[in-house]
Amino acid sequence: MHYRKLGDSDLEVSEIALGSWLTYGVGVAKEQARNCLRQAFDSGINLIDTANVYGRGAAESVLGELLREFSREDYVLATKVYFPMSATDRGLSAAQISLQLDGSLARLGTEYVDLYQCHRYDHETPLEETMAALTQAVDAGKVRYIGFSEWPAEKISAALAMSGVAKFVSSQPHYSMLGRWPEAEVIPVCRENGISQIVFSPLEQGVLTGKYKPGQPPPRGSRGSDDASNQFMGDWLKNEVLQAVQTLRTLADEAGLTMAQMALAWVLQNDNVAATIIGASRPGQIVENAAASGVRLDVATMAAIDKNLRKVIHR
Ligand SMILES: NC(=O)c1ccc[n+]([C@@H]2O[C@H](COP(=O)([O-])OP(=O)(O)OC[C@H]3O[C@@H](n4cnc5c(N)ncnc54)[C@H](OP(=O)(O)O)[C@@H]3O)[C@@H](O)[C@H]2O)c1
Repeated sequence: MHYRKLGDSDLEVSEIALGSWLTYGVGVAKEQARNCLRQAFDSGINLIDTANVYGRGAAESVLGELLREFSREDYVLATKVYFPMSATDRGLSAAQISLQLDGSLARLGTEYVDLYQCHRYDHETPLEETMAALTQAVDAGKVRYIGFSEWPAEKISAALAMSGVAKFVSSQPHYSMLGRWPEAEVIPVCRENGISQIVFSPLEQGVLTGKYKPGQPPPRGSRGSDDASNQFMGDWLKNEVLQAVQTLRTLADEAGLTMAQMALAWVLQNDNVAATIIGASRPGQIVENAAASGVRLDVATMAAIDKNLRKVIHR
């Protein structure tokens, strides 16, 4: 496993990180989650990502229990705030940040998180209030560093322009060979300001592993076959996308990689990316995916990926 510095922080994070959306505390049984976490540590993964909203606290609770077998100094723990936790609890007001952070710390069984991320931008709360509340959390020692996920570039710049507040060190965008959205605005503003990307859904929830075949039902036991989870897979399960993805298999073979490894390595070619967060429903996926760390894709392979996917890339 290779490690990269997270923005202007002093955190060194593993290039492959482990997330917990739709998996731990929700779809994956606790013993399997334990095996995944043990495999992650064995593979050198040190960044664990979660959110208060995953399973409405269930993911944090399971992680809090399972992480007890590891030393707190040996991993970087990241969680998030914003999405509704009840009919009335949501957003990034000072009151919510205080309430939700204490809830996350209690469930995670820790006195601090290394990274506290605003899960989206809250258009109903003044940015000054959010930044002051995040700064207070840092000053109280409950949060080491702060980040955001999917904020508009102008709001990132507005936060960076404020004085006397904690500074963002990380951005968590949706980014993959198929989804290039952050390249236009978010990555440039982050690169100039000591903010790294920790990318989510780099495999487009499994689509870029090549296991979903055009014209065939999703494999049994996969996220795509589960109606509770596949609602977030959007257009990626359409035949046109799946056909284009299948053309990557030869490129991966030539590079000596699996399709999942090539998709993860593609994200890591961008030097503003510190880590790419995978989801894993079983330990074998972690073994396979962790091997993408340190892989260099040559110019010809990068160009061929763009050519093969050109009709289905979203920007
Ligand atoms: N900030 C945000 O708004 C946001 C949004 C989404 C996610 N996230 C974070 O990012 C993390 C990763 O997101 P994601 O789960 O969408 O990531 P992903 O890595 O794109 O997809 C993960 C899923 O793909 C399948 N998979 C993974 N490796 C595989 C392999 N080698 N072979 C075959 N199938 C494989 C598994 O599903 P099956 O085995 O069930 O098919 C796995 O759960 C989340 O856990 C969360 O922490 C953040």
